[in-house]
Amino acid sequence: MAVVGIVPAAGSGERLGTREPKAFAACAGRPLVEWSLAVLAQVCDRVVMAVPEGHELSPDRVLGGGSRSESVRLALEAAPEADVAVVHDAARPLVTRDLLERCIAGLEPGWDCAIAAAPVTDTVKEADGDGRVTRTLDRSALWAVQTPQVFRAHVLRRALAVAGSALDTASDDASLVEAAGGSVRVVPAPPGNIKVTRPVDLRLAELELLERGA
Ligand code: CTP
Ligand code: MG
Repeated sequence: MAVVGIVPAAGSGERLGTREPKAFAACAGRPLVEWSLAVLAQVCDRVVMAVPEGHELSPDRVLGGGSRSESVRLALEAAPEADVAVVHDAARPLVTRDLLERCIAGLEPGWDCAIAAAPVTDTVKEADGDGRVTRTLDRSALWAVQTPQVFRAHVLRRALAVAGSALDTASDDASLVEAAGGSVRVVPAPPGNIKVTRPVDLRLAELELLERGA
């Protein structure tokens, strides 16, 4: 059974605001994406990454697309041998081997997809366009979803074979599997598996990685 890591790393990182694309911004002495690649390499047979324009291409480095899910689709296309696809964002450098292994183990018979997620700790409300609160959601059933997201590869391939507009609006790949009727389960993840979005996140990630190395 071939387990292939799929790393979308083709975003520009507009909110981070560094000169180079986010995945290649320096974080604790390495390009950000290298932290994820090092952990994925410990558990995957191969890792394919989607990179931005201008980066060197190879069988494991494909040109990304105009949206995150399009980049995932293009990277998966380069791994026809995959039976299991482990999708992990370049923007989450604090992923651990333990979390990856628990997500892969979560893909038990009967499930199409197992995703890292943390219980929501904030109170979550819905509001209308004027800012008027219309509803407070029941937090006990809410999960903040992260990556890794582990899929049966044929299920993910099918879920990604939709119109580009559906890929543009998907904020994760599991939602595409849900839309196609697939079964998705959450795997409890530490809240520390943060996504680097803004400069403050990069500083936090850097602190944690330096501490781990110490
Ligand atoms: N990503 C990608 N291809 C895209 C857009 C995003 O591979 N067309 C990747 C990013 O490189 C990142 C992950 O998807 O690893 C999550 O996306 P996000 O955090 O939004 O990163 P960016 O799109 O780069 O950041 P921003 O939205 O601030 O521009
Ligand atoms: Mg983005």
